[in-house]
Amino acid sequence: MSRDKLIVFDTTLRDGEQSPGASMNRDEKVQIARALEKLRVDVIEAGFPIASPGDFEAVEAVARMVRDSTVCGLARTGDKDIDAAAAALKPAKSARIHTFIATSPIHMERKLKMKPDEVVEAAVRAVKRARQHTDDVEFSPEDAGRSEIDFLCRVIEAVIVAGATTVNIPDTVGYSVPQQFGETLRKLIERVPNSDKAVFSVHCHNDLGLAVANSLAAVMNGARQVECTINGLGERAGNAALEEIVMAVRTRRDVFNCDTDIDTREIVHCSRLVANITGFPVQPNKAIVGANAFAHEAGIHQDGVIKSRETYEIMRAEDVGWKSNRLVLGKHSGRNAFRTRLRELGLEFGSEEDLNEAFTRFKDLADKKHEIYDEDLQALATDTLQHATNERVKLIALKAVSETGERPVADVTLWVDGEERTGHGVGDGPVDATFRAIEAVVDSGCQLQLYSVNNITGGADSQGEVTVRVNRKGRVVNGRGSDTDIIAASAKAYINAINRVIDGAERLHPQV
Ligand code: KIV
Ligand code: ZN
Repeated sequence: MSRDKLIVFDTTLRDGEQSPGASMNRDEKVQIARALEKLRVDVIEAGFPIASPGDFEAVEAVARMVRDSTVCGLARTGDKDIDAAAAALKPAKSARIHTFIATSPIHMERKLKMKPDEVVEAAVRAVKRARQHTDDVEFSPEDAGRSEIDFLCRVIEAVIVAGATTVNIPDTVGYSVPQQFGETLRKLIERVPNSDKAVFSVHCHNDLGLAVANSLAAVMNGARQVECTINGLGERAGNAALEEIVMAVRTRRDVFNCDTDIDTREIVHCSRLVANITGFPVQPNKAIVGANAFAHEAGIHQDGVIKSRETYEIMRAEDVGWKSNRLVLGKHSGRNAFRTRLRELGLEFGSEEDLNEAFTRFKDLADKKHEIYDEDLQALATDTLQHATNERVKLIALKAVSETGERPVADVTLWVDGEERTGHGVGDGPVDATFRAIEAVVDSGCQLQLYSVNNITGGADSQGEVTVRVNRKGRVVNGRGSDTDIIAASAKAYINAINRVIDGAERLHPQV
């Protein structure tokens, strides 16, 4: 039986980045795009070019680097948006413009303040303009999940006539339920007279925890593109998780008459990279990529798996890229071995200077922690990338003292805008004292919203990986840092967040 191809459209770099705190700089986006290309996603939505000069540059850099996937840029229906997307995508080997406008009564009346006829006209105009730049144009009726089916049919027919080659049905607010959403796809494909001229796609949000289920219901009813993100990252409760959709379709080939081209062995690597870069850790019980996803705790399960793994395992851990911790490099490994292993992991630096800095960090780490695993290298590469951006604040030295019965104190020496400065802090614990010492120097005005520590590889000498989330005047930013000393990792994470906050240029949000 021949199977249809299910197109995988990854929007980690666009919708994923809309998660509060998850914004990424250009080099981080390029790093993730490289991993997505290796994962063999068909389309990478790299950003929203009109949002800010930084977003434009990031989309352009991804378009320049990626060769095997189509690179897509988001645009509202205005001419400036479409032209900015086209300009950013110019270096792409294969470029797609994705334009959208809301079609639900509530969005048209209250947000756009436009009549349905005006919405149809704007959608058609935008698609025609996008087609002047590329043959690959996607249109989304935003909030389709709450739009009237007759109006959806009208808009979709019109945009296909105008030249849209993909029609994406977004459940923008995560309101749909699987059976009904599947029906909607079936009806649209049946009722739109020219539906055979476009690929139908879905884009589901996870507000009711149904994003993957809704996407799969749509696939069962004819959708042949799914929009998704690594780890389900995305606005509010997130988007449909790529790894779950891909593995559901692959594992249940008896149910789905289609398959993807994804190289599933790259899934865990991509998941870790995205978690590292965005500072959104993966929950241990997350399907496919959570630390416990393939762990068998209960004795009866372990016994079954030893006798025959199929008793309790429906997928093989190695097929999605889980490997047992592998000792890869040590204190005596040279620069070449270091570079080669990073390359094998899909981690490359834009310049020799960054590679040199990463190698110096590697040597420091190897002195403290004799066994270096892939996970350590990944954290180290992320650290180097984050610190390679023009940082205004850098950590030079830290001393934190915590003693039973005494209030913890910390002293920091920082490099701030080219000047060495010191600060002292007293706090409820050594981490609190360290953050206060940093604030005594920079007075950033940031409020700490979240603090979490993970160990990277397990074992007492593992590096601690700290994520912090701070809020300054409503702008939410994540910072991360890793070190064998978790107080130092905490200081690095906090300083990373401060650098991101003070560096942050204003950007437009596509849906506001
Ligand atoms: O959720 C949504 O509606 C979107 C569109 C821009 C496709 O992200
Ligand atoms: Zn979305």
